[in-house]
Amino acid sequence: MSSLFATKSVDFIIAESEGGKVHLKRTLGWGNLIALGIGAIIGSGLFSLTGVTAAQNSGPGVALSMIVAAIGCAFAGLCYSEFSCMIPVAGSAYTYAYTTMGEWLAWIIGWDLVLEYAVGSSTVSISWSAYVVSLLHTFGINLPPQFVAGPFEALKLPDGTMVQGIANIPAVIIVFLISLLLMVGIKESARTNAVIVVIKLLVVVTFIAIGWHYIDPHNYTPFVPANTGKFGNFGFSGVMMGAGTIFFAYIGFDAVSTAAQECKTPQKDMPIGIIGSLAICTVLYVLFGFVLTGMVSYTQLGVAAPVAIAIDKTPYIWMNNLIKFGIICGFTSVMLVMLLGQSRVFYSMSRDGLVPRIFSEIHPRFQTPWRSNLLFFFFVAPFSAFLPLSIVGHMTSIGTLFAFVIVCGGVWIMRVKNPNAVRPFKTPLVPLVPILGMVWNFAMMYSLGWTNWLRLIVWLVIGQAIYFLYSRHHSHLRTRKA
Ligand code: ALA
Repeated sequence: MSSLFATKSVDFIIAESEGGKVHLKRTLGWGNLIALGIGAIIGSGLFSLTGVTAAQNSGPGVALSMIVAAIGCAFAGLCYSEFSCMIPVAGSAYTYAYTTMGEWLAWIIGWDLVLEYAVGSSTVSISWSAYVVSLLHTFGINLPPQFVAGPFEALKLPDGTMVQGIANIPAVIIVFLISLLLMVGIKESARTNAVIVVIKLLVVVTFIAIGWHYIDPHNYTPFVPANTGKFGNFGFSGVMMGAGTIFFAYIGFDAVSTAAQECKTPQKDMPIGIIGSLAICTVLYVLFGFVLTGMVSYTQLGVAAPVAIAIDKTPYIWMNNLIKFGIICGFTSVMLVMLLGQSRVFYSMSRDGLVPRIFSEIHPRFQTPWRSNLLFFFFVAPFSAFLPLSIVGHMTSIGTLFAFVIVCGGVWIMRVKNPNAVRPFKTPLVPLVPILGMVWNFAMMYSLGWTNWLRLIVWLVIGQAIYFLYSRHHSHLRTRKA
């Protein structure tokens, strides 16, 4: 039993990570970290889920949902900052859990992160597909509707007839292409990321600046439509459920924490990078949500490419395509970070013996865990092909929120267990901030409703079966001790 809670010490983990052949250079400053954060954060959450959330949960009050979600992220961000300075290695939440709460919880978190990274990338691929379809449409190219949506969605043709989807092929293609890129190894340089960040920021700022002039104030009444009697369908529960959904838009700031080992002065730069990227995105998101729901009635926004609908209301048709193109570039970088993050987490888990060695086998020439990338392609593809955006988005959100709750708890536990450890950055007001982080993020999980809880529980139960049938017996911590 005790081996379930066996932990790895911080010193051991750092020594282990620095024992490799490759030493990461400390070159990043806070500006790079903010850029890294924005590169990973702004994506399908903003450009797709804002519409879905407004249409299904909070109406024009989507801006309120965004603020609620941002507060939960800020608490978690402060906790991530402490851990990332203390344990500056790449495994992120999985590694933090291993040091504080032991192998079993580390496994749970590593398994749960599949929802954040792998299922998250599938969510973005569905949005990517919607925007590509919309862009091609403006060039007169119409892809067969059955093959741009999954079987749970029906598409409306221009003549008004409805067509049931079969499989979302463009979404599968983009996941395949990105997996391929990761397999042959790409150096995601700070410069490439900076270019994409500039494009994304330009798109968002341009949309806000232009859209502001096309706001119809009637669209804001009522700002939060009355609840329909169904939990989460407008009203207070709608704003909260909307926060759980739109939370997806903030996912990615935790990716900043994985760069701690490459940061010049982590104790100063890490919190600025994490909180700074969150703060910038929050301001932009709230303005964006406000403008979008002012331009188009929330009732029409329940589609995967709502920005396209809003831009269609302006005379700037030439800009329409540029904006869509910018959004598509932005999605691509988010998917890249997510699929990369996924293979990194499983790489760490495989090195610990918790998942098979195949996940840490490196291609002799490409120097990448290519089999892992390939396996994850086969895992992600069915989600992209067959499930609707809202389901995969919710699964990602509930999984990530769960990871945040555990990280917040972990900071507190570590303070109690190991009060004298060197902490280059300290989360303020412990235990208040971690407790608020746990409660706030748990409230968002709660608001996602029982179907998403059921999905999370089923996923975790599958994980438990694998842990007790396989991982526990192969864990290096156990075999080393034995
Ligand atoms: N925050 C990222 C997005 O919205 C995951 O696409």
